[in-house]
Amino acid sequence: MIEAHGTIGSSVPRVDGRDKVTGRAKYAAEFAPEGLAYAALIESTIAAGAIRRIETASAKRAPGVLLVLTHENAPKLPYLPAKERPAVEPVAGEALRVLQDARILFNGQPIGVVVARTQSQAEYAASLVRVEYDVDTNPLTRFDPANAKPASAAAEKKGRGPESRQGDADGAFAAAAHRVDQTYVQPREHHSAMEPHATVAQWQGDKLTLWDKTQWVYNDADEIARVFGIPSESVHVINPYIGGAFGSALRTWPHVTLAALAARQSGRAVRLELSRRQLFYSIGFRPRAEQRVQLGADADGHLQALIQEAVAQTSTYEEFADATLDVPASTYASANRRTKYSLLPMNTNTPTPMRGPGHATGLIAQEIAMDELAVELGLDPIELRLRNFAERNPRKDLPWSSNGLRACYRAGAERFGWDKRSPQPRSMRSGRHLVGMGMATAMNPAPRYPSSASATLFADGTAVVRSATSDMGPGTYTAMTQIAADALGMPLAKVRFELGDSRMPIAKEHGGSTTTASIGPAVRAACAALLEKLHTVRTQFQLPQAETNDVVLRHAGLEILEAQGKAESAEEQKQYSTYSFGAVFAEVHVDPDFGTVRVARIVGAYDAGRIINPRLAHSQCIGGMVQGIGMALLEETAWDERFGRVVNANIAEYLIPVSADVIDLDAVFVPGEDTVLSSLGSKGLAELGLCGVAPALVNAVWHATKVRVRHLPVTPDKLLLAT
Ligand code: MOS
Repeated sequence: MIEAHGTIGSSVPRVDGRDKVTGRAKYAAEFAPEGLAYAALIESTIAAGAIRRIETASAKRAPGVLLVLTHENAPKLPYLPAKERPAVEPVAGEALRVLQDARILFNGQPIGVVVARTQSQAEYAASLVRVEYDVDTNPLTRFDPANAKPASAAAEKKGRGPESRQGDADGAFAAAAHRVDQTYVQPREHHSAMEPHATVAQWQGDKLTLWDKTQWVYNDADEIARVFGIPSESVHVINPYIGGAFGSALRTWPHVTLAALAARQSGRAVRLELSRRQLFYSIGFRPRAEQRVQLGADADGHLQALIQEAVAQTSTYEEFADATLDVPASTYASANRRTKYSLLPMNTNTPTPMRGPGHATGLIAQEIAMDELAVELGLDPIELRLRNFAERNPRKDLPWSSNGLRACYRAGAERFGWDKRSPQPRSMRSGRHLVGMGMATAMNPAPRYPSSASATLFADGTAVVRSATSDMGPGTYTAMTQIAADALGMPLAKVRFELGDSRMPIAKEHGGSTTTASIGPAVRAACAALLEKLHTVRTQFQLPQAETNDVVLRHAGLEILEAQGKAESAEEQKQYSTYSFGAVFAEVHVDPDFGTVRVARIVGAYDAGRIINPRLAHSQCIGGMVQGIGMALLEETAWDERFGRVVNANIAEYLIPVSADVIDLDAVFVPGEDTVLSSLGSKGLAELGLCGVAPALVNAVWHATKVRVRHLPVTPDKLLLAT
């Protein structure tokens, strides 16, 4: 049972909103310890080979330069192995070891760092460094699916293995009355958050402080400690605010090591901030994926065969495996299913999770294919999905912990006005524009991690609750303040939540849409423990129950009262499959002469369990829709396959939606509480908001134009050439 709660479920404005819009919120690059010096990277200009000679004399002589570090003068670093591979690391391979040898594994690889008194002095000096290479004349820079290899056994362990099978999918496909067999392409995409990655590093003896953009302060500290061979406790990571990350700050990238190394070798605190161009090489990206989908259905539209095969890119030094086929294999009922996942190693930096990692990608292929199947069957797209609704997770053969998908189809269709859609493509118009309406299913895993928190009561009657989690934008500060105030029975204004510091109670990554469902219960546990202590104090001093907390503390002569709390999921939860669900509806207006697509509106209906703060949840979902507009219509890395370079490594040419691209977005939440996952009742939401948006838009474009685009993004040329 879920009890009634104070501010849980109310649309509290962001508690950190004012600090963010007034500039008081401090981001990693803005911390400026005493004597701060500035760093600039030197990067490779070839895709594969080795450095033959690196000439740094003129850089060293340049004004203001304090240090030029390359593989020739950098110390050998211990790079101790981790006891257990952190969850955010690729399934196999080894992270790039900076300045440890002359090898070049990708274009844009950091091969040196300059430290100077000012940023422009550092950048100027870096530009003076001359490098000669032994060039590998056959770099792996072309995306050729023929060279793909099955994902490894290591991927298998994480549920991202090379193959899964149920029944005889190929036989059933061949025998099916209705078939779709198509290939879909999602290009390489970049996170492009507002805040660039930055690290400020300061050594005091053998202790290191890092102000670093990260979604996981503990792992950041652990990893840098291993690189330098020092105890984890010697590295203090601080990161109170993140200006968007989308997964790019889950891992500790090589530039963090470079900042720490530059600080150690120069004897100064050093700031290293990646330029917008460097963000295309020095952190990860969403890998390009080509997927073949084969759907076979009987005359009534019941799926008989569901086959999905994906080929995605990775680097030559690490095997990054997205969970691309997890959701597609779990969405619909079909007696026969088969998935195959292959990886194509290329001379590139390693890909990494990017919002809805794999899930959004897998759904693009599946949900466009489902639309094609609906057309083939002459069935309404929602009806086709309802006929194939999975009563339990078919891949894992487990019951859902909760599943409001059918309610999402209903609520979304009603809010959108799906009944006004005429089924025929190219049959609706608004003036001279073709109008199209499309929909897609959204689905994203909603796991929960073990977490911890502390709760502290002060004699002035205020409380602080802490956990070493992060807030990259979804509103952790606000949601956790609500949960804490509720658990303590205190007004919101008297409770503060703090995060983003590796000295706070341990938490796992702020990723995978797990934060509310994971940290929330730990916050509750810490608050409950604090109330218990408070009760003990009251009893000890025989204070009446009505006496306020501050009075209790003063009577007891206490300045503070503190308690710790831990929470993890019950064993029982393993018998369930926990996902969040949604249905996305989109209307596009297409100019028949120019092939330009305007997104008139998007409506999403979501099941994410109990919503802690509807305003924040709504923002998450419409934010996902904005990113989905980018995915469907704009985002594409222009990759020069001769040199393995990103041609549009800037946000002038790597297109993302701007305000003018966003007209009318809305999100509704179907009622429901997931009591299996936790007594809080919440499931993950964030990344669900991106899932299903791109395919809904592609399906709407088909409905408007009768042109089926299977290679994202849907640019005007693809529509014009097809008509
Ligand atoms: Mo998200 S890609 O888990 O930050």
